Amino acid sequence: MSQDLKKITTHTLLNLKKKGEKISMITAYDYSFAKIFDKAGIDVILVGDSASNVMGGNETTVTITLDQMIYHAQCVRKAVERSLMVVDLPFGSYQSNSDIALASAIRIMKESGAHAVKMEGGAEISESIKRIVAAGIPVMGHLGLTPQSIYKFGTYAVRAKDAAEAEKLQTDAILLEQSGCFAIVLEKIPAILANTVSKSLEIPTIGIGAGQDCDGQVLVMHDLLGINQEFKPRFIRQYLNLEASIHEAVSQYITDVKSMDFPNNSESY
Ligand code: KIV
Repeated sequence: MSQDLKKITTHTLLNLKKKGEKISMITAYDYSFAKIFDKAGIDVILVGDSASNVMGGNETTVTITLDQMIYHAQCVRKAVERSLMVVDLPFGSYQSNSDIALASAIRIMKESGAHAVKMEGGAEISESIKRIVAAGIPVMGHLGLTPQSIYKFGTYAVRAKDAAEAEKLQTDAILLEQSGCFAIVLEKIPAILANTVSKSLEIPTIGIGAGQDCDGQVLVMHDLLGINQEFKPRFIRQYLNLEASIHEAVSQYITDVKSMDFPNNSESY
């Protein structure tokens, strides 16, 4: 199993696909959780721009800045010993032109110590991907529902259900592979399309709401751990109800402080 491997690299992911072993990926935004995930044996830790939602409390990922992403990446990097660490290039840090894209990717790598960056989009960003890869920075692609374009889509509904969009996604996936991406996230697309795309590529696909035939799966840590009970689309499997456990623990703490049960003698100096 991949847990026995030393450090996970982009080459490890390619080999996992070749062997038919699925790739596990989770988001993290801070030192403490990243440490637990790395020790648990996760293959890839993504410092996602979902930090904008789950850490910053923003409605979309559009508003998070490059400086804020670098801060989260620096925190996570200190905890990572074995996993491959990928950081999202946030909206506005790569769409204008390939010079800006390259400069943003270099900042993430230099200032955080990340192993790779992730970028949303297909043909429209392929030149930037080529330049970043040529500079020695591994790039993970991201197709399907790309939340940085939420105001263009207007909704977080499943993407590529019609033939034209499905065809464009397949073409984009091949272009991303040819541009040098080492993996591609497929978000919220029909499972059958994700199956076709995964089979058409040598590089691995990592699915979120894209069915079981992707070469790996990714979940946002808050969804997996049940920290945010308000967000429950069907593609999430919730492994814990941490919101309820934390609520219970903090309520008990409040009661103990008010009743002067805490601290007791053995908890005092
Ligand atoms: O930002 C993020 O958390 C992501 C995952 C949903 C893939 O991009």
